[in-house]
Amino acid sequence: MTAVQRVLTGITTSGTPHLGNYVGAIRPTVRASRLANTENYYFLADYHALIKVGDPARVQRSTLEIAATWLACGLDPDKVFFYRQSDIPEIPELTWLLTCVTGKGLLNRAHAYKAAVDKNTAAGQEPDDGVTAGLFMYPVLMAADILMFNAHQVPVGRDQIQHIEMARDMAASFNHIYGEHFTPPQAVIEAHVATLPGLDGRKMSKSYDNTIPLFAPTEQLRKLIMGIVTDSRAPGEPKDTEGSALFQIFQAFATPEETADLAQAYAAGIAWGEAKERLYQRLEHEVAPMRKVYEELMRHPEHIEAILQRGAAKARGIATPFTARLRHAVGLRPLQDTGTAQSNASSAKTALPSFKQYREKDGLFYFKFTSAKGEVLLQSTAYAQPREAAQVIKQLSSGALAWGELPESCQIGSAADIDTALQLLRAGQAD
Ligand code: TRP
Repeated sequence: MTAVQRVLTGITTSGTPHLGNYVGAIRPTVRASRLANTENYYFLADYHALIKVGDPARVQRSTLEIAATWLACGLDPDKVFFYRQSDIPEIPELTWLLTCVTGKGLLNRAHAYKAAVDKNTAAGQEPDDGVTAGLFMYPVLMAADILMFNAHQVPVGRDQIQHIEMARDMAASFNHIYGEHFTPPQAVIEAHVATLPGLDGRKMSKSYDNTIPLFAPTEQLRKLIMGIVTDSRAPGEPKDTEGSALFQIFQAFATPEETADLAQAYAAGIAWGEAKERLYQRLEHEVAPMRKVYEELMRHPEHIEAILQRGAAKARGIATPFTARLRHAVGLRPLQDTGTAQSNASSAKTALPSFKQYREKDGLFYFKFTSAKGEVLLQSTAYAQPREAAQVIKQLSSGALAWGELPESCQIGSAADIDTALQLLRAGQAD
């Protein structure tokens, strides 16, 4: 039995989600979020957006659109941690703690910063011309995102691998100076994730201005699809599926049988107009139900706000006590607090949520799970043998067993409180 893996990823709130984002990131991530034995953290990286975007309305709009998109695509905010980075003030605080253990030279080597410097140098400008300290510090903020929750796995695109390596370096430096607080994260590269071609056949990307917005209204979707580049072959002439953007987009949404059908139609000389119509129908079929949810959500930003606030509270259930521990570790402590590291560690331990096993007058065995504050969150049913109860406790603690698999009557506290407490307990045990 493997312990629960914490999976975390951030989405920069600087644009409108398009079909390429859906196929490459949103769809696989929502699927993965349903896997057992993972604990998932998805957040809107709006502090990161400020590095590239200077338009407040756009940052806000993009945050709303991206949150609504993820929810409409099936992300269940009760099953995952779904929050907005800027609602967690502990993140910028941790950014500073990490800044102080990060070599400036390490950041000089970051690809995005180096590219900016190289461009300036080639253009005969000052190396740092137009480079903000925000861009330079980008990797530290990102490391804080990851290390705050001690994520094991970080699914990212190839362009982000270096950032994960830097987060590992920062974790190691911090741990070396202040003791073991951080788990080194691992980048997870989805080798099979499709990149989708855009309207002009190049990779679908905001920077090429060739995207199809995921939730474009249906008429606009149709119009955009009709504008996808094709070659000039006439109806009746056989067409190549190879290198056909239309075909690749179709394939990303269709079953293998539907794809084989379209390949056959290509060979039989389907007219481009008709092929486009088929793609439109196929996309519409997949997107329309989600679009309905999306539009409803977009009409109610206050609902999304409430979901994000709940997500933030859940995430801060971990971030706040963890930051307290880190502040203590680096010496940001109450002045009267003269305890040694040893006694501090043990007082931190007593503040963890805990399981208590006991025997009742009926001669049977039970356990309770209580929060750090001592509130009872779970109350077990009876076990004939003490080791049965102990086994369940062990499995719940390691994450091998989800508390939702216990009989319904066991739940005393709210689901969010139980999740948070178990998470804290596991983080504490990992020390
Ligand atoms: N830098 C990431 C991107 O542009 C977004 C991001 C911010 C992120 N913080 C993160 C991704 C933490 C993973 C983990 O794609």
